[in-house]
Order: sequence, then C-alpha cells, then structure tokens
Amino acid sequence: MSRKNIIAANWKMNMTPSETAEFLDPFLQTFSTRVNVDIVIAPSFISIPKASELITPNPAVSLSAQNMSHEASGAFTGETSAAMLLDVACEYVILGHSERRSLYGEDDAVINKKVHATLAAGMKPILCIGESLEEREGGQLESVLTSQLEGSLAEVSADQMADIVIAYEPVWAIGTGVTASPEQAQDTQKFVRSVLENLYGAEVAAATRIQYGGSVKPGNAAELIGQPDIDGFLVGGASLDPQSFAEIVSAGIGG
Ligand code: PGA
Repeated sequence: MSRKNIIAANWKMNMTPSETAEFLDPFLQTFSTRVNVDIVIAPSFISIPKASELITPNPAVSLSAQNMSHEASGAFTGETSAAMLLDVACEYVILGHSERRSLYGEDDAVINKKVHATLAAGMKPILCIGESLEEREGGQLESVLTSQLEGSLAEVSADQMADIVIAYEPVWAIGTGVTASPEQAQDTQKFVRSVLENLYGAEVAAATRIQYGGSVKPGNAAELIGQPDIDGFLVGGASLDPQSFAEIVSAGIGG
C-alpha cells in the first residue's frame, strides 16, 4: 500500500498576516505545481484569510486551521466554526495538538466532537496524539496512545478514516530540539497502525497516513521519512522559515 506523504506546517501563534505573505510569496514559487507530496500550511486564524488568498490559486498547497469549535454557531466567544473555515477554503484542521490538550484542557471527548464536526463539514482532521516523557518512561506509552485513539475516534467509521491524518507527536520532542530517533518513531508509529488495525481492519490501517511531529528539521527529515510507517511530518519551529520548510518538503518528495 503506497501512501502519499503529507507535510504540514503548524505555525502555532506565530506569523502575522503580513509575515504570512512574506513567507508565502517565495515558498509558493518554489512549489507552484503539484508535487508527489501533500503540502499543508496551518496559520493562526487571523492570518488564514491572507494565506487563503495566496494559496487557493496554487494547486500544490492546502490550507489548514490549528483548531476549530465543534459548535456550529452562536454564543461561543473567541471560537471559530467550520462554516467560517470553509468560507476561506480550509481543507484541513489540526485537532488535539498537545498544546491544546495540556494548556487548554482539551480531552479526547471534546476532540472527538471536533473530529465529527470537521468531517461533517467536509474538511480533513489532522488528529494529534502523543505521550509525555513520564508516560513513556513509566511504561504507559501503548495504553496512552490506544486510549487517545479510541477516545478521539469514537464513532468514526472506517469510510471516514480516508479523510483523517494521524499525527504522532511525542510531547517530549515538541519544541525541545530532542527528536525521537528514527527507530523510536518507527516502532511507535507501527504500534499506532496496529491500534488502527484493531479498530478498523488491515486495509484501513494500511491506507491511513501517520505523520511524525517533534523537532523535525531539514537535517533529520530524510532519515525519519525513510521509515516505513512515517508518512509525513507536522512541523512547528522549522516551518517558520520558508527555506527550511521547503527542504523538509523536499525530503518528503524523496521519501
Ligand atoms: P516542533 O513542533 O516542530 O517545533 O517541535 C511540532 C508541533 O508541535 O507540531
């Protein structure tokens, strides 16, 4: 089963609308025609309209949000709905990022509601899972990942899995400069695929794209993408510079 790599830039709370334009002008020239990898940019909400204006005419690059409300509309101060994201041509939504889980109290139940709202709107969730160092060292790696997957994918059908990307991001590797070794990432992502197999069967598990995230840089991207169960990256820090993100995307084309 061949899976197309998907490389996504998670800009987090960086990049004003003007900086977004400064990044995208050269970056979109580098990738102006469709390449054999899905390229996704996830700006903050305020920068999405500017990014949408520049990205929409480009067939090679897609737009993502970093979060979304599961509510359709109404009295939810500070929240952003699926309809709002669709209106600016968002194709993906990052859900359950570890910063959302740990800093904003999102649990698997709320992430599950967001997954359903995203799918119902015709967008594609990039569903993040990952263990803390304490959990890994305490032997809880497999139980933590299993319960995150079971909880956030509750009532998601096998057919709907075609629109879901999983991002495995060990919390201890996010923004720390410490990357999981290619072997650690491969072993864990193979395990994640085995959980998907238990939930959805071998065919769905083999077709699901699983990204790795956590201190991915141009210098380690090629080795990581060479692993059989790594189908792309969710990149934070190194995605803020067009040149370094372009190098990571290029590793994805080669991988
Ligand atoms: P990082 O972030 O690449 O800066 O470690 C990854 C992420 O949080 O998605």
